[in-house]
Amino acid sequence: MDPLFDVVFIAHAESATQTNHQERCVLKKSLGARTMLYPTPVSVVGTYDKNGKPNVATAAWVGICCSKPPCITVSFRKATYTHGNIVERKAFTINVPPEKYVKETDYIGIASGRGVDKFSTAKLTPVKSDLVDAPYVKEFPLVLECKLRHILELGLHTQFIGEIVDVKADEAILENGLPDMKKINPILYAPEVRSYYSVGSYLGKAHSLGKEM
Ligand SMILES: Cc1cc2nc3c(=O)[nH]c(=O)nc-3n(C[C@H](O)[C@H](O)[C@H](O)COP(=O)(O)O)c2cc1C
Repeated sequence: MDPLFDVVFIAHAESATQTNHQERCVLKKSLGARTMLYPTPVSVVGTYDKNGKPNVATAAWVGICCSKPPCITVSFRKATYTHGNIVERKAFTINVPPEKYVKETDYIGIASGRGVDKFSTAKLTPVKSDLVDAPYVKEFPLVLECKLRHILELGLHTQFIGEIVDVKADEAILENGLPDMKKINPILYAPEVRSYYSVGSYLGKAHSLGKEM
């Protein structure tokens, strides 16, 4: 047998009267310890450098990590300009780029603000946040303004946890006062294969569909 294959056992609890048994049912191929959560959202992180120059960098290692206080985590390599900017300014914005900006978003994830003004090259407009010491992207419809709360050294990446002090949204993406997934049209990322995708169809109401079980 190929050693890459693991045998997976699934426990079935058929009924109270039947004894539980384990069924040898699926073979899954081991891909190793890798960063393969599918999908991850694509965000653009806005920061100021020590001289006040606005910068943006693309990040896929992003996610909400606490509901109260509302917090978000983003991880950057020490080599990025953004890493130093966040440490310096203790603030950042998370900007959600819509699908039509996929080329600009990719560029922002290739070039470094150390050498170029990415806002200018990508023809995007920096707006100074009135709440945190970071700029946001005017053209992107959803923005989270964050104050740095924690720094965790993990290895290649440093994890920054920011408290979300406000969310700014364009009126055009709102449905009954809340952001609408289809109207935002965010970009999804497939790590390792390094590909972008768009959002698929609506599946149903969360915290509700499960009640039909
Ligand atoms: C889709 C995509 C996702 C990325 N995600 C991250 C990430 O989560 N963390 C990171 O350190 N770099 C990530 N990068 C690479 C940075 O965006 C890249 O190193 C960029 O040049 C950093 O810019 P800066 O030096 O101006 O900060 C990503 C790039 C792309 C294209």
